[in-house]
Amino acid sequence: MQTLESIAAVRGLVAARRRDGEGVALVPTMGNLHEGHLSLVRVARARAGCVIASVFVNPLQFGTGEDFERYPRTFGRDCELLEAEGVDGVFAPPVAEMYPAEAGQQTLVVVPAFSRMLEGESRPGHFDGVATVVMKLFNIVMPDVAVFGEKDFQQLALIRRLVRDLCLPIDIVGAPIVRDPDGLAMSSRNQYLSPAERRVASVLHRTLVVASRRIAAGERSWPAIEAEACKALEGSGFLPDYVAVRRTLDLLPPQEADTARELVVLGAARLGRTRLIDNLRVG
Ligand code: PAF
Repeated sequence: MQTLESIAAVRGLVAARRRDGEGVALVPTMGNLHEGHLSLVRVARARAGCVIASVFVNPLQFGTGEDFERYPRTFGRDCELLEAEGVDGVFAPPVAEMYPAEAGQQTLVVVPAFSRMLEGESRPGHFDGVATVVMKLFNIVMPDVAVFGEKDFQQLALIRRLVRDLCLPIDIVGAPIVRDPDGLAMSSRNQYLSPAERRVASVLHRTLVVASRRIAAGERSWPAIEAEACKALEGSGFLPDYVAVRRTLDLLPPQEADTARELVVLGAARLGRTRLIDNLRVG
């Protein structure tokens, strides 16, 4: 596995592998890899002869007061894990390689249809940072396929929309959420949880299960379902940002004609200093 820090080096590796007739898959990450990330790599591996993973903690997607500085950085171990999965190249650029423009002058990619609701409301500017870095990674690697986790359901929807709107010839593949045995969705941020918080963290998943079962059973009173889910979270010590029943396709509130199968329940809540997100499709 090659470790690449420059855009030119990535392009060199990709060009060489393309000359050998191989397809290229990209797995963008911010590092601190866990089983969830490795499942994305395996999906990528099954789809292309050359797999590039990026490890870049993207400053543009963190707001003021968020955890950019303390975001866990474990590059040595990440490389061992990626190499064991047969990754061909890990792209780990310094910030200046990705953002040479002076502060405030970076060109941004904005996907308004998805960037202002839900996570975007709680984290203004977050999705402009995500869309911009993902677009840059796409332009650098020019993959045939890119794999993203369904845990970040809104991010995945936004990237699909970005690819569609900008006519990018990239197949976007979503990989299922990987959960701990108690149901907690794997996330790099789970390690911020204290042992006591970790014991209650899976309540977020269980709350979404209850909400999604109610919808599957025919309930259509979204505000009541959402409010009761928030109340359940508060009862376990969470500070909910939102629990929302939305359509999977556009993440807008459900309409009369939407069937339960077309819906997803999304939740975000703070537990102590840790912000957790999760989602569950109905049915
Ligand atoms: O999901 C993530 O880890 C990040 O948002 C991504 C897609 C790697 C962009 O920085």
